[in-house]
Amino acid sequence: MCGIVGYVGKKEAQDVLVGGLRRLEYRGYDSAGIATLDDNDEAHLARSVGKISELSSVLEKAPQTGHLGIGHTRWATHGGVTETNAHPHHAGDIYLVHNGIIENYKELKAELKDYDFASDTDTEVLAALIDSNYKDGVSLKDAVAKSLKRIRGTYGIAVFSPKEPGTIVVARLGSPLIIGLGHGETLIASDASALLGYTREAIYLNDGELAVCTKDGAEVFSLDLKHLDSKPETIEGNVEQIQKSGYDHFLLKEIMEQATTLHNTLSGRINPKLGKMHLGGPNLTEKEMRDINHVVIVGCGTAYYAGLLASYFMEQLVPDLTTEVVIASEYRYRSFHLPKNSVALIVSQSGETADTLACLREIKKRGIKTLGIVNAVGSTIAREVDGGTYVHAGPEISVASTKAFTAQVVAMLMFGGMLAEYHGGDPKLIAEYTRELSILPEEIEKTLNTHRETMEQLAKKYAKYDDALYLGRDTAYPIALEGALKLKEISYIHAEGYASGELKHGPIALIDDRFFEVFTILDNWLFDKACGGLHEVRARGGKTIILTNSKADIEADDIVRIDSPIKLLAPILLNTLQQLLAYYIAIERGNDVDQPRNLAKSVTVE
Ligand code: F6R
Repeated sequence: MCGIVGYVGKKEAQDVLVGGLRRLEYRGYDSAGIATLDDNDEAHLARSVGKISELSSVLEKAPQTGHLGIGHTRWATHGGVTETNAHPHHAGDIYLVHNGIIENYKELKAELKDYDFASDTDTEVLAALIDSNYKDGVSLKDAVAKSLKRIRGTYGIAVFSPKEPGTIVVARLGSPLIIGLGHGETLIASDASALLGYTREAIYLNDGELAVCTKDGAEVFSLDLKHLDSKPETIEGNVEQIQKSGYDHFLLKEIMEQATTLHNTLSGRINPKLGKMHLGGPNLTEKEMRDINHVVIVGCGTAYYAGLLASYFMEQLVPDLTTEVVIASEYRYRSFHLPKNSVALIVSQSGETADTLACLREIKKRGIKTLGIVNAVGSTIAREVDGGTYVHAGPEISVASTKAFTAQVVAMLMFGGMLAEYHGGDPKLIAEYTRELSILPEEIEKTLNTHRETMEQLAKKYAKYDDALYLGRDTAYPIALEGALKLKEISYIHAEGYASGELKHGPIALIDDRFFEVFTILDNWLFDKACGGLHEVRARGGKTIILTNSKADIEADDIVRIDSPIKLLAPILLNTLQQLLAYYIAIERGNDVDQPRNLAKSVTVE
């Protein structure tokens, strides 16, 4: 949600900033802007509504020169999507970009009577506040620190002033800020992907820290201006991972590369010969593993659905385990109680989701061990959990989450498999899950390649519908929820996911010929029950697509059968078909699949 970049060094700042913003565009794409300082210490500002390409057109007509600057791509929270509300904001001598929300901006605005505010944003108020403190003899660093002490809310900011050329001051509280250290140049970004290809060395700022950046590096301080030691860390990933690599869209690339990313998730963590799984990250002693009797899984959206599917697997594997899967935005405000021997799995692709992070902090306050199931290395959640595991899906650029879902389910399943060893879990079942995991990447590859064209054809047929219902039972139920979410996000078709057993309890009233239904039916002991409802739906004019690994006869308008030795993990395979279906339907409807309307990749505000 919103992206920040900054640069000070030898290169033309405009080029670095626009390049960085393009990489961060997936985080927000309502409007964008940059501010630079030229070699005569004069500042220049350019902003535009729309995508980065709009900003580029503005800059083509009026290029900016200079070797220092800041930039921003916005996802509106305060004020509409207008050029005036776009960042950077400017007040007096201050140029500022900001991610996050200043909760007390109205109160501060009322105090700042000497300023004429042009925008409706909280950020402009912060710029004015810093400017009001930036008087005779006060340094930019001191003015920023003094101002931030008055702020209630969250921020990641980058600030410069023509009065102190060569310096950018950055700070963070609840919104990520990373400082890339190059040779004779320093970059700033809210997301490490903007730094790839420039440097591998970076300082990840912690909450409550501020840094003064020059071309020679960065010095880190607390808001009380105490000098802090900061150890640079290595940025993971490479430039190829953030390119489309021949695909039309990041979404299709991320769906199709799941076999490879899953190899990374599994690497060194399963031993099919011994029939065992092992994660190094949880950092729990044998006694702690044995004592765990309750697992609470926390996430939002797709991460929540991944948790739900994993909970079915964990319950099968660990005989005495209770699992609870919760939506972070709800849980954070509930008066929840957790048994003493609980462990919390905090699931997040970005590692920055505000509600999930808030839950993590609430759970920690109750003295419960927290483990991260996180994709983005070095993210806030990854840094604050007690232990955990990176899912290693690589950068996920498309807004709709696909490969991260698969990796999250698998990472949590491996945690379950490991836990099962300490809880008298059935060794045969653990071994069978391990065996299936070991062939899952190849089976995903096969499924995607075999059925890609079919899903494209089906999309042509179903793209015209207004409504869709996704249904599944047992481990296909979380898949139904995830399938509906994927479709609605990128195709804008109204879609709902339901447990198929619930059909008769309400949703069947909706069915008519405007609906199509996607039934995910697994070849298992619940097969007959999972087929229940199909006839009723067809009798009411609903069109049905079946995704299944069963060879049995099923009456439906369209059936996609996968042929795979995988049984327990079949819902993961069938979900990849739903991903393709959503993708091709969105394409058929002419939508922007990578950057769907109203959405942003990482929801760092409530
Ligand atoms: C769905 C989607 C969202 C995210 C959710 C959590 O395609 O992308 O529902 O899954 O916002 O995000 P993370 O995993 O970054 O916490």
